[in-house]
Formats: sequence, structure tokens, C-alpha cells
Amino acid sequence: MRILGLETSCDETAAAIIEGHDKKITLKSNILATSLALHAKTGGIIPEQAAREQIKCIMPVMQEALHLAHMSFADIDAIAVTYGPGLIGSLLVGVETAKTLSFVLNKPIIPVNHMMGHIYANWIEHPDITFPTLALVVSGGHTDLLLLEAHGTFTLLGGTRDDAAGEAFDKIGRLLGLTYPAGPMIEQLAKTGNPKRFRFPRPLIGSDDYEFSFSGLKTAVLREVQKTKQLDQQTIADIARATQDAIIDVLIKKTLKAASNYNISSLVISGGVAANQTLRDTFEKTLHEKRPQINFFAPAKNLCTDNAAMIASAAFYAYQPIPWKEITADPELYFV
Ligand code: KG4
Ligand code: ZN
Repeated sequence: MRILGLETSCDETAAAIIEGHDKKITLKSNILATSLALHAKTGGIIPEQAAREQIKCIMPVMQEALHLAHMSFADIDAIAVTYGPGLIGSLLVGVETAKTLSFVLNKPIIPVNHMMGHIYANWIEHPDITFPTLALVVSGGHTDLLLLEAHGTFTLLGGTRDDAAGEAFDKIGRLLGLTYPAGPMIEQLAKTGNPKRFRFPRPLIGSDDYEFSFSGLKTAVLREVQKTKQLDQQTIADIARATQDAIIDVLIKKTLKAASNYNISSLVISGGVAANQTLRDTFEKTLHEKRPQINFFAPAKNLCTDNAAMIASAAFYAYQPIPWKEITADPELYFV
């Protein structure tokens, strides 16, 4: 089965083609256009500007995905599209394009929850991940822990009460004068940061649930920035280090707690923050020491941040086509 995936939930316009046989998929093409350069200047995404760029990009991006895969629309068996959560104007670009294609080409359409897509980025290179699986999604908008029993069957264990992990990186980056999105830059700066100079709070680290909260961390950094007379390069690096340490500490402890309470066979991480090498290494090391029987997976770094391959992958493994008339963009979509 060949699936064309479309992803336009935030600032990116992405199209990918996968070919699935039995339980394994091959990535035929994976194209992404981003308007990040526009948004870096303003420190965040301006929704209308993002949607206008996506309208310009969607056709060329699809064309490029087909071209690279040496295919035409006639070779595609189904269309997968992100229908939420995200920015309404952005989501509509992908959803309406997918509906039109489904209608004109008479092909099935599979609506995909963007967060499920992030999780399924793992299956692109690791089709043999065994259930039950614990999934940590850490992106700019979400920090969620889910228990997956089988493809398409899951329970939400907990999520963030306020800021998501990526959002914390971005907001703290802004306090430090870094451009958006700040996660990758904070990771770089943290390498030369002194781990002992600052220690920021680790909210809810010991709480008896799987909830997260990162807004207190941002407030603690704000206080430190206001206290520090001169925000020199070393101070920025030291704050970056303490920020990353605090976020990673919370993510690892909470996830490990869930790993001990549920009888899981594997653990997968995903979302933009999962591209953080220190987070990946710390997970690997901690699991190796404490729960060596659990298999750990993280997608390739370019598949951690938003892309359309993950949307096609989710559609392939949890194949649930619905009539195109029934699909509507849902900006507030969560795991239900
Ligand atoms: O999954 P994603 O591309 O978009 C959403 O669905 O939100 O995630 C973007 C987020 C941003 O907050 C960005 O700062 C963060 O992922 N991020 C990172 C790294 N790369 C991206 N955070 C920490 N370290 C990184 N290397
Ligand atoms: Zn995302």
C-alpha cells in the first residue's frame, strides 16, 4: 500500500510517500518546507502568515514528493492528513487539500492525530517495536505519556498542566535572547554550561501521577535573569545547562515511574524535544541501568520534529479510513 501523507498543523508544509508491505514500511520521499525563517524574526509563529505560506507551498511540496518517489497520483492508494491539534488556518490547508484529492481521485482518506503521528515516527525505522509500549511525546505543544496496547489502542496516562517541554525551551530561550525555536540552541549552549552554578525547580517530579508542569521553571529562570546584572555568554550557557538538566530530569523520572508501574516491553520517545541528544543518551543509560529488559527507541532526528512521513506511518499502522465528508480540522484535538 502506498500512502501520501500531508502535514500542515503548525508552520511547516510537508508531504511524504511511504510504501507498506506486511508490517514494514519504506520511506519513498519526505519533503518539508518551513516558514521558520520568517517566524524566527518575530520570536514566534504568526498564524495567518504561516497559513498563507502553506497555501503557496502545498502543491510544489506534493509535486516534489511524487517526483522523488517516481510516482504520480495514480500510484497512490490512500491519503493521510493531520486533522489536529494545531493552528486552524494551517490545518485547513492540509485537510482541504487531502479532501479534494480523495474526492477527485476516489481514494481513501485517513485522518491522523498529529501527536499519534509523532509516536509513529518510531515505526518508520523500527517496525518490530513490541507492545505494550510506553510512549513519551515531547514537542512544542505537548508533553504526554501514553500506554499503547496495540496499534491504534492506547490509554493516556498524563500530560502537561501548563507549558509543554518544548514550549519551556522556547520561552526560556526568549528570556536569554535566543531565536525561536530555542531548543536546539539551548542544547548547544548547555555543552559549555557549568552544571553547578544554577539549580532550577523540577515541578511535580515526585507527584503521584503522570502529570507535568514546566511554567514554574520558566518563572525561576526569569527571576535569575532579572537578578543577573549582565547576561554574558557564560551565564547564558550556565542557565541553558541548568534548564536542560531540569527538563530532562523530570522527563526521565516520570517516564521511569510509569515504566515501573506498567508491564511494558518497549519505550518510545518522540516530538521535537526527542531530537535532544542528551535526553536520548540519558534515557538509554538510565534504562540500561535500571530496566535493561525494556527496549528503547527514538526516531531519527529529522523525524522527531514535524514531518509528513510520521503521518503516513500512523495511517499505515492504524489504518482507519473515513469518508472525506466526515473529516474536519480540529485545532483542539487531544487523545480521547
Ligand atoms: O514536534 P515539533 O517539531 O513541533 C510541535 O509539534 O510542537 O517540536 C518543536 C519543539 C520546539 O519547542 C523546539 O524548541 C523543540 O521541539 N526542539 C528541541 C530540540 N529540537 C527541537 N528541544 C530541545 N532540544 C532540541 N535539540
Ligand atoms: Zn509536532
